Amino acid sequence: MVENLPARIAELKREKGAVILAHYYCLPEVQAVADFLGDSLALSIKAQSVEEKVILFAGVNFMAETAKVLCPEKTVLIPCPEAGCSLADSCEAEELAAFKREHPECMVVSYVNTTVGVKALTDICCTSSNALQVVKSIPESQPILFAPDRNLGSFIQAQTGRKNMIMWDGCCKVHEEFSAEAIKRLMAENPTAKVVVHPECTSEVVALADYAGSTAGILEYCRASEAELFIVVTESGILAELEKQMPSKQFIPAPTFDPTVKCNECKDMKLVTLEKIAECLEKMSPEVEIDEEIRSQAEKAIINMVNIK
Ligand code: 13P
Ligand code: SF4
Repeated sequence: MVENLPARIAELKREKGAVILAHYYCLPEVQAVADFLGDSLALSIKAQSVEEKVILFAGVNFMAETAKVLCPEKTVLIPCPEAGCSLADSCEAEELAAFKREHPECMVVSYVNTTVGVKALTDICCTSSNALQVVKSIPESQPILFAPDRNLGSFIQAQTGRKNMIMWDGCCKVHEEFSAEAIKRLMAENPTAKVVVHPECTSEVVALADYAGSTAGILEYCRASEAELFIVVTESGILAELEKQMPSKQFIPAPTFDPTVKCNECKDMKLVTLEKIAECLEKMSPEVEIDEEIRSQAEKAIINMVNIK
């Protein structure tokens, strides 16, 4: 490395009038240069209120797209446009359009982990932080298609007892890799540990949780808990923030089906590096661009979500 990249990024941010938003799943050194770090919901809300004219989004591509949908007048930079998401890939806009033609009675609730084309076909978006409130806000008699995460959908259905809810058959390949059997063994070895789980995990794994919720929810639960030891069943990026916020507590990464992998990593999130951020700010490229008609349709679904309290 020929230069101090965090210092170079700080200088470029000033020069270009840019702000960096990053998801907790990014590399720790990327989290460290972010002006705002959050989960999917917090990042969507923050994107709407930043004053800077340039947003560099450190995360996978649907996240940067969401920021551009909400801030069309701003330049939204994406240091790594090839960073995709298995969950977003599991629902294509054409397939969703075909489903809607067959089931015109269904209201579409989509997780924000979707492409802008899917959001444009959605009535109301949700994130793992607010999916319960979003579903509860819809009259009981209204049939719902919940897309694309079957695990988050089942988690919400179990809590609401809602019957008329069809699940799209999609999943996050990172969260589905956690093994319930291996976690049970770890729990037996650590009987005082509290188990915290992201609801993108399978229902067998969620059933083991003392707390199941979004990235922000997990952070909050661990902060408020009197426990000192936690088994963390979600993407490994959250460990850096847990350890930073709670240095006296201990966090054990949960095992996956692959015994050599301790806590699962979202490889796409880790594609965003300091080098790529610096290069992107220097060149002011790549930039997110979205067709205006699609953008304004997608915006309605996100605004409907953000307006739910
Ligand atoms: P949250 O940020 O809503 O916890 O979602 C996790 C995730 O998988 C983001 O890609
Ligand atoms: Fe997508 Fe899963 Fe990675 Fe989140 S962790 S970006 S849902 S693949």
